[in-house]
Amino acid sequence: MKKKTNNKTTAATVRGRRFRGNELKYLKQVLDSDLKTNSRRGMIGDLERKFAKRFGVQYAISSNSGTSTLHQALAAFGVGPGDEVIVPALTVVMCGYAIVQMHAKPVYADVDPRTFLIDPADIERKITPKTKAIMVVHLYGQVCDMERIMKIAKKHDLWVLEDCAECFLGTDSRGRLGGTIGDVGSFSFEGTKVITCGEGGILTTNNKELAVRMRKFGALGFKTLQASDAQEMSNPLAFQDPKYLRHDSFGYNYRIAQPLAAIALAQLERLDWFTKKRVYIARKYLGAMKGCSWLKPQYVPPGYTNTYWTFVVLFEGKEKIGVSWYEFRDMFLEFGGDKCRSVFALIYNEPSMINLNKTGRYFMDIDDKQGALHKKYLADPKCPVAESIQPKLMQFTTNQLSDRETAVQIAAFKKTIQYFDKKSSEHKK
Ligand SMILES: Cc1ncc(COP(=O)(O)O)c(C=O)c1O
Repeated sequence: MKKKTNNKTTAATVRGRRFRGNELKYLKQVLDSDLKTNSRRGMIGDLERKFAKRFGVQYAISSNSGTSTLHQALAAFGVGPGDEVIVPALTVVMCGYAIVQMHAKPVYADVDPRTFLIDPADIERKITPKTKAIMVVHLYGQVCDMERIMKIAKKHDLWVLEDCAECFLGTDSRGRLGGTIGDVGSFSFEGTKVITCGEGGILTTNNKELAVRMRKFGALGFKTLQASDAQEMSNPLAFQDPKYLRHDSFGYNYRIAQPLAAIALAQLERLDWFTKKRVYIARKYLGAMKGCSWLKPQYVPPGYTNTYWTFVVLFEGKEKIGVSWYEFRDMFLEFGGDKCRSVFALIYNEPSMINLNKTGRYFMDIDDKQGALHKKYLADPKCPVAESIQPKLMQFTTNQLSDRETAVQIAAFKKTIQYFDKKSSEHKK
């Protein structure tokens, strides 16, 4: 009897397409060094110098995630118990966690109904004498209204942290890159991001004191660390002296690993290419939905460039043609679309945050009140726009690497729109 052949492809047989630059070469260099290269001369130093250069900032400080970077930035600002940090309600919960980690209170600002980004007018409304910083989040590839936000920050003497986890190379109306306008920019190299090494992150700043503090906080507070130098042991003999004291400030271990820095460095070399590809695909979605009255793309104000980490639309099918979010999603998948995602729930609606605010507990299954401070930081959310648009937002992928895949995706999108338009016009007859 003829044996059935198994045509299934496995991870081992398929060659991926995201890592076709110098990733393997750099990774091999790190492994061949037996991890003995020091941080300054090795891949970490290269990654930081090249990232800083590409973004035109003085300092870049690598990290193990785009959540750790937020924590590092807030720590460097001096945020602590009793302080308030303004953050958009519509973003990933990690933005809120970073504030909680500093035992400060997240104060939620509403978003603009067209750009889906933090609303400067609401930031201003939420400022109190306790406000210490504003965390803006450049969602889906688009920079927030930094012109107005920086004016507000200046007027009230507040720190500004730009979360650019989803926004590499997006610019505002003055052509400024996201991550270079506020005091600190924070980027993620997590697996779905524009460039990735699996998990990782990096901070950008022109402020030397902040750079040193962010580096120390993310690297256990080794006293030798400098703004542009991740070297913990500059003099091995002194370092091993029993009298030598190594740490002069408190910190966590948020260091990126050399092998991951090697991958991130190779990815950085292709950042412009990856970004252009996403913009190209987003334009195709825009073309495919021309004339559709019930899908509204993320509004890009004049002069801004959205680099479209994802292509996001506000779905108004329910009210305009009687089609639900789920019906659209299911039909899109049936027509061959790869993914159609919701956006994250508002931070204050996540059970982890509700539980913390109600009970002061980190975990649901133990009584210990590890977050006792947060009990009194009960969220007082007043973000009606974020609440109304969050259930209607849809994210489409822009990471197709071949024209064929892109064509399938765009055709599915177009077909779904046409299908429901036709159905609705038939219904009206
Ligand atoms: C807006 C935003 N901020 C922060 C993060 C956290 O990044 P990371 O997953 O690298 O911790 C992410 C991504 O997951 C994100 O999308």
